[in-house]
Amino acid sequence: MVTLLIEIKDLSYKYEERLALDEINLTIGDGEFIAIIGANGSGKSTLAKNLNGLLTPTEGRVLVDGIDTTVDVWTVRTKVGMVFQNPDNQIVGAIVEDDVAFGPENLGVDPIEIRRRVDEALSTVGMLEYKTFSPYKLSGGQKQRVAIAGVLAMQTKCIVFDEATAMLDPRGRSEVLSTIEQLHAKGMTIILITHFMEEAARASRVAVMSGGKIVRQGSPLKIFSDVKFLERIGLEVPMTVQLAARLRLKNVLTVDDLVGRLRR
Ligand SMILES: Nc1ncnc2c1ncn2[C@@H]1O[C@H](COP(=O)(O)OP(=O)(O)OP(=O)(O)O)[C@@H](O)[C@H]1O
Ligand SMILES: [Mg+2]
Repeated sequence: MVTLLIEIKDLSYKYEERLALDEINLTIGDGEFIAIIGANGSGKSTLAKNLNGLLTPTEGRVLVDGIDTTVDVWTVRTKVGMVFQNPDNQIVGAIVEDDVAFGPENLGVDPIEIRRRVDEALSTVGMLEYKTFSPYKLSGGQKQRVAIAGVLAMQTKCIVFDEATAMLDPRGRSEVLSTIEQLHAKGMTIILITHFMEEAARASRVAVMSGGKIVRQGSPLKIFSDVKFLERIGLEVPMTVQLAARLRLKNVLTVDDLVGRLRR
């Protein structure tokens, strides 16, 4: 039995007169790995920001571990952390360890405990040896891993990645993605917003947004096998899925699936 971590009930959000989220209902279990996909402007970032109280609902409610984001935003932020697209905008410290310490310092955590958390978080993302480096000397992928460490040091239960790999080169992207998979394996709840369908395919559930609504959700295999639907809402279909559709193969999502089927 999975425990609920996030409950979104009839959530609508308006920027002045513009309706960006339209009656969203979604629940996310503790330890789940869910991907959110959708065309530009479909409302993904607005939804993300509603998950930790950076934005609060115009209508409806968002509950994190049972806590309403409009009632106790500080507790909510100790449970849900965010990693955004641009690694440079997330740097707050002149050296890596200070950067990672920033979050727990703001929470008033004891300094000795902060040191311990910083080392643990940096070691989890494989950046401990860069502890005394200036963040500005790191690659994009390394900066994003430091940003992830900053969230880990706050000991949140969930991390929302809003296009966190979009500005990275292929190497940085794969570094960050394998960090995400390791965190999930350790029990962290992962919400991955991405326009890379190959990344979304790693999640256990995919939710598709269009025009401020969640228009479909299901397993990656289910979502990605409907090529016509994805094209209709303006999403790119993974190459492996396109090939499988052309070859009339079913149940193909990854390169390995495809190779396996073609070998038969
Ligand atoms: N600060 C803002 N003020 C007014 N409208 C906004 C603001 N931010 C977003 N919007 C509008 O709200 C809608 C949803 O935007 P949002 O950024 O959530 O989409 P998105 O799915 O994250 O898009 P992208 O893939 O480009 O990141 C869009 O129509 C957008 O133009
Ligand atoms: Mg966005």
